[in-house]
Amino acid sequence: MKALILSGGKGSRLYPLTYTNAKQLIPVANKPVLFRVIEAIKEAGIDDMGIVIGSGENGRKVRAAVGDGSQWDVHITYIVQDEPKGLAHAVLIARDYLGDERFVMFLGDNVIEGGISNLIREFKNSDYHAQIVLTPVAEPQHYGVAELNPDGSIKRLVEKPREPRSNLALVGIYMFDPHVHEAVRAIKPSWRGELEITDAIQWLVEQGYRVHPYIHRGWWIDTGKPIDMLAANSKVLEELTPEIRGFVDKDSLVDERVTVEEGAQIINSVVRGPTIIGENTRIINSYIGPFTSIYYNCVIEEAEIERCIVLENSQIKHVPVRIADSLIGRNVLIQRSEFKPRALKFTLGDNSRVGLI
Ligand code: TTP
Repeated sequence: MKALILSGGKGSRLYPLTYTNAKQLIPVANKPVLFRVIEAIKEAGIDDMGIVIGSGENGRKVRAAVGDGSQWDVHITYIVQDEPKGLAHAVLIARDYLGDERFVMFLGDNVIEGGISNLIREFKNSDYHAQIVLTPVAEPQHYGVAELNPDGSIKRLVEKPREPRSNLALVGIYMFDPHVHEAVRAIKPSWRGELEITDAIQWLVEQGYRVHPYIHRGWWIDTGKPIDMLAANSKVLEELTPEIRGFVDKDSLVDERVTVEEGAQIINSVVRGPTIIGENTRIINSYIGPFTSIYYNCVIEEAEIERCIVLENSQIKHVPVRIADSLIGRNVLIQRSEFKPRALKFTLGDNSRVGLI
């Protein structure tokens, strides 16, 4: 079996972070979501992976970060998508890479509890033409939704239905045999101009191919929006086995659910887990609350933050109020201004969002 990982797209719901980086490279618990996807696929016994990337700078960033896959001992082939024309379009352009093999398609911004080994095993040992993964969600109108027949087979798939007939959402992991190539050629772009994978699967169902619904029990998060990134970060932090590889001074209180990576320093601070402090990051006279991931080479000094993701090389210093529920990019500086007038002073990228007290 092969794997097709989708790592293109615009990532517009995560602007401005995704102007300068691919959303799949944003870390949760200090590891890019895409790396977690590669590891889950490798763990399921697949080491031949195709990654769909955009033709711009973000695609180049993915290539630079993942390389040829040797860091995971897997083989990576890149497939460039000129424009994000939909998930089924990604399958269409990967035809030569996929050949006639069965494959798993995994959205590069999805995080799932417990990996995908069981899913792959079930599909491998079956005569299904396709397998989709479904999970109950609270607001199905925001997802691709599956309606099942009384015997548990799939009746219909609908993309973001206004009046959902079930609460079973399509998780971003799909398994196909080569019949999907007929499907993606047969369908037409949707109202939003994309070739939809739900339409391709619906086509398979209508042609009488066996499409098996696998119900996933456990958490699954599509990290499309900042709030989802923070939720995924919290879930993954809870699963992490904590380890102190950096330095904690005797005046600090660091609880047992905290990971301190190599070269990190905690000085006169309180750190409550589950939390991870990245390589060579310094926490000085500060409070770091639960569900926080601070990436490498950051400085947090005289500040209080909780339930945040802070990316590399950022500094938060002498901030008089606690920062919470925030996604902070790379090379960001947040600090008390020494100059008059005493006011809030911003240099914000396009589409930034600031929440004031
Ligand atoms: P989406 O989250 O549906 O789309 P997006 O990344 O463009 O985000 P936004 O809506 O915020 O602008 O994409 C799901 C995953 O599939 C994501 O990892 C990007 C990838 N993708 C492609 O590789 N090619 C595509 O044509 C599309 C639409 C998405």
